[in-house]
Amino acid sequence: MKVAVVFGGSSEERDVSIASGLQVINALRARGHEVLPVDTAQGALDARDEQRLRDFQVLETPPEAGALAAIETSVPVAVHGALQLHEVDVVFIVLHGGAGEDGSLQALLEVSAIPFTGSGRVGSTLAMDKDVAKQILRAAGLPTADWMMCRPDAPPAESPFGYPLIVKPNAQGSTVGLSLVKSAGDIAAAVELAGRFGAEVMLEAFIPGRELTVGILDGQPLAVGEIIVDAEIFDYRSKYQQGGAREVFPAEISDAQTRAVQALGLQVHEALKLRHFSRVDFRLDPAGQLWILEANTVPGMTAMSLLPQSAQAAGIAFDELCERICRLALEQSR
Ligand SMILES: Nc1ncnc2c1ncn2[C@@H]1O[C@H](COP(=O)(O)OP(=O)(O)O)[C@@H](O)[C@H]1O
Ligand SMILES: [Mg+2]
Repeated sequence: MKVAVVFGGSSEERDVSIASGLQVINALRARGHEVLPVDTAQGALDARDEQRLRDFQVLETPPEAGALAAIETSVPVAVHGALQLHEVDVVFIVLHGGAGEDGSLQALLEVSAIPFTGSGRVGSTLAMDKDVAKQILRAAGLPTADWMMCRPDAPPAESPFGYPLIVKPNAQGSTVGLSLVKSAGDIAAAVELAGRFGAEVMLEAFIPGRELTVGILDGQPLAVGEIIVDAEIFDYRSKYQQGGAREVFPAEISDAQTRAVQALGLQVHEALKLRHFSRVDFRLDPAGQLWILEANTVPGMTAMSLLPQSAQAAGIAFDELCERICRLALEQSR
């Protein structure tokens, strides 16, 4: 196959995307496929550009807003430009956040009849909008924490859900802009911070307990994992720094709980109309009740990321996972 691996983007998750993109490129090459690397900030990369990225590392904090704003090319324009030059069989999307994950790029590729990996325009949009996704989960009778929305300049004086309270941007990832609020006096600042990443802010009941995740591939749940962090929440640093979190696959929970996570994960994947693969995250509260946190349509894709670990624990190695995802995209287009 000839595969364009598209990564980078100009969202706060740019670095995370580069780390994933580089590994997907290697995996597909190891399986004998021809790969065209595309950094959306730059277009198609040649060998020299790739060489420069060889020792790329995700830093402790996301890139500065100024650096991201300086990236001139929009994701859809960049991808379209690169693809017109090169015929490919499939576009492998490894873009987190923004136009690469929210359905914009997916819509462009759909109308261009170019096969691409992962969820389509509709599923991508639904999953990226946390408020809309939770409304759909609620309507389907699936468990998700209570929440309310507010504007950045109109925070409520009190939490309707007690404390601690979670405040987060409605359409962001990697825990960027998210706060754990412990008293009413801290709500306004948390809402203001979340508001820097979009005009809609979510206030959500805090679910204590353990954090679980499950990958979905081709309509099947993979292995369930547990994420154990020292921090109270699974924050940017814990997510991307060595030793930031302990990730246990398979999770040390009962068989019944494992099956429940897998069944719920699949229900979420279907309720949100997701495709090919996704990763669904949960909290398991001290009473043993599962709560859906969110579904990720373009989860991290380094070999040590959670979806690849979930696949590995189910017997699917990283290279094979990347190739199977491409095949699903090709089958979809037939
Ligand atoms: N309602 C909640 N209760 C407890 N922890 C939460 C809640 N919402 C988010 N978190 C913590 O914050 C992390 C990031 O939240 P999430 O909603 O998944 O946003 P993102 O899209 O940034 O990953 C979660 O993995 C979890 O550790
Ligand atoms: Mg998350």
